[in-house]
Amino acid sequence: MAALSSTLRGLALLTLCLVSLSAGVQAFSQSDTASGDSVQSNPRVLILGGGVAGIIAARTLHQNGLENFLIIEARDEIGGRLRSHTFGNGTTIELGANWVQGTQVGHGPSNPIWDLARKHNVSTVFNDYSSITTYDGAGLVNYTNIVDDATDNLDKITELAGERVTSNLIDLNARAGYSLVGAKPQSSHAKAAEYWNFDWEYGDTPSGSSLIAAGLNNNFTFDTDQGGFSDENRLSIDQRGFKTIITEEANGFLRPSQLLLNSTVKRIKYSHSGVQVTLANGTSITGDYVLCTFSLGVLQNDDVIFDPVLPDWKMEAIQSMTMTTYTKIFLQFPHKFWFNTEMGLYADDERGRYPVWQSLDHPKFLDGSGILFATVTGQYSERIEALPDRQVQSEVMDILRSMFPDTNVPSPSDFFFPRWHSDPLYRGSYSNWPASFTREHHDNLRASVGVGGRERLWFAGEATSFKYFGFLHGAYTEAVSVTQEMIRCIRRGQCTGLGHFDEVRNVRPYDTIWIRGARRR
Ligand SMILES: *[C@@H]1O[C@H](CO)[C@@H](O)[C@H](O)[C@H]1NC(C)=O
Ligand SMILES: *[C@@H]1O[C@H](CO)[C@@H](O)[C@H](O)[C@H]1NC(C)=O
Ligand SMILES: *[C@@H]1O[C@H](CO)[C@@H](O)[C@H](O)[C@H]1NC(C)=O
Ligand SMILES: *[C@@H]1O[C@H](CO)[C@@H](O)[C@H](O)[C@H]1NC(C)=O
Ligand SMILES: *[C@@H]1O[C@H](CO)[C@@H](O)[C@H](O)[C@H]1NC(C)=O
Ligand SMILES: *[C@@H]1O[C@H](CO)[C@@H](O)[C@H](O)[C@H]1NC(C)=O
Repeated sequence: MAALSSTLRGLALLTLCLVSLSAGVQAFSQSDTASGDSVQSNPRVLILGGGVAGIIAARTLHQNGLENFLIIEARDEIGGRLRSHTFGNGTTIELGANWVQGTQVGHGPSNPIWDLARKHNVSTVFNDYSSITTYDGAGLVNYTNIVDDATDNLDKITELAGERVTSNLIDLNARAGYSLVGAKPQSSHAKAAEYWNFDWEYGDTPSGSSLIAAGLNNNFTFDTDQGGFSDENRLSIDQRGFKTIITEEANGFLRPSQLLLNSTVKRIKYSHSGVQVTLANGTSITGDYVLCTFSLGVLQNDDVIFDPVLPDWKMEAIQSMTMTTYTKIFLQFPHKFWFNTEMGLYADDERGRYPVWQSLDHPKFLDGSGILFATVTGQYSERIEALPDRQVQSEVMDILRSMFPDTNVPSPSDFFFPRWHSDPLYRGSYSNWPASFTREHHDNLRASVGVGGRERLWFAGEATSFKYFGFLHGAYTEAVSVTQEMIRCIRRGQCTGLGHFDEVRNVRPYDTIWIRGARRR
């Protein structure tokens, strides 16, 4: 537990994990360090992407006296997946990240996103997840006892995950974990309650998720006994947009010449001598190092070409983690006709069909706004992204009519949902760790890529965070630690970068000779 809970820093710890987790089978390698290049005094760093990771990486360079960097951002503003939208008659809503997740208890560790929100006076409100009203196809039905059971079940699988970490047992998927603690949801109520606890957080199903990584990820953020910040979730209702945490932070140090907006990266050419980034309009920009902060979804697709292609160990890691989608579907009505709690849960016969509802029209949030939103995730998000808006609206309205059978549900005055999965700039919402993904794969996802002893390509973002994948604070902490490592490399003139495993192997092979041998024994 101790080794796993500390942030991955360098070779020493990596080697330790290697020995303890995989019986010394894998070969850990770092690039050839033979070249004796002189220390570069003013290297040019190209930061690809202007989200939390890109801006915090730039700030880290700035704080270390390195000003020769350029942030290249495809959109006409910074913020990445912190993205606001003007909805209805002028209300700012959040299409992407919306919460500070885990804040601080006393003088314990504080979430850096919470620090930014306080520093820039961004308005956030405690979101009480236990303030919930439950529904099914017959309307209002009280099954909060089942919701409480599902919360207990999540605690049980988090404990089971902890036991498996301590005993160094192989990972399972979270569905297997649930079954092993006796949670086998059969009714639509139990399925909705499980969805609310699990899918709504990870953006993915229990069967698609690692039991161990889900447990650790939950604890590192929310459990103060495990180094977490706090169990509090705070919803941003700031009408400047939640992105203000990052736009205001950038205003404090970024020069106009250090930011290129409206510039989509198409190709990254890298060699021993440097990097060349080609934009969609054909312009090329050269530099010494590249920091890629693209989402995992972008790396998994062919929207950006690496030249030469990334090494096999890197490609395997990229393709083996999961990019999930989390879709909020917003409706504005002329008046409020729904629950007075903060949340609503709807149990459909089909698991994952418009299950979670949140009211922004609430005294704590945007009182009188007439805004209600539903959330879908994963495959269901992909499904609705492929449909025309009016069909999704009509499905959502049917659900509302069955939740409120005795109400004359009015037509919405506005309707909107983002298509994160189809957007080539994101290809999803955030990463999730599947059961087949190993610690070595994750190290490889995070590792830098070198050519002939020069670590030219670096990667940082929520997906590269072992402790906080999927979270804004994961993007933040990775930007700081990866950039610091890059700076150490730059200052030394030669470096080993963030190490990787050339091959990720089974402890025991699946091979038929071994099976025969085992049978004989
Ligand atoms: C980016 O593009 C938008 C719209 O396409 C335009 O309004 C804006 O001025 C551009 N910004 C820059 C910095 O080029
Ligand atoms: C922060 O916001 C509050 C309430 O919106 C306001 O009263 C206060 O003046 C703001 N402080 C700063 C430093 O902007
Ligand atoms: C729902 O049932 C629980 C007991 O299972 C009770 O504590 C709660 O007050 C009920 N809620 C409503 C809205 O009736
Ligand atoms: C998470 O924290 C709980 C309570 O502190 C602990 O029992 C459990 O083992 C931890 N799980 C993991 C995966 O670290
Ligand atoms: C292409 O984009 C870059 C950066 O946004 C800009 O400086 C350049 O003028 C553009 N070139 C053309 C041909 O439009
Ligand atoms: C926006 O619309 C709501 C509901 O229709 C209404 O109550 C509110 O006054 C409107 N706000 C503005 C600023 O027009």
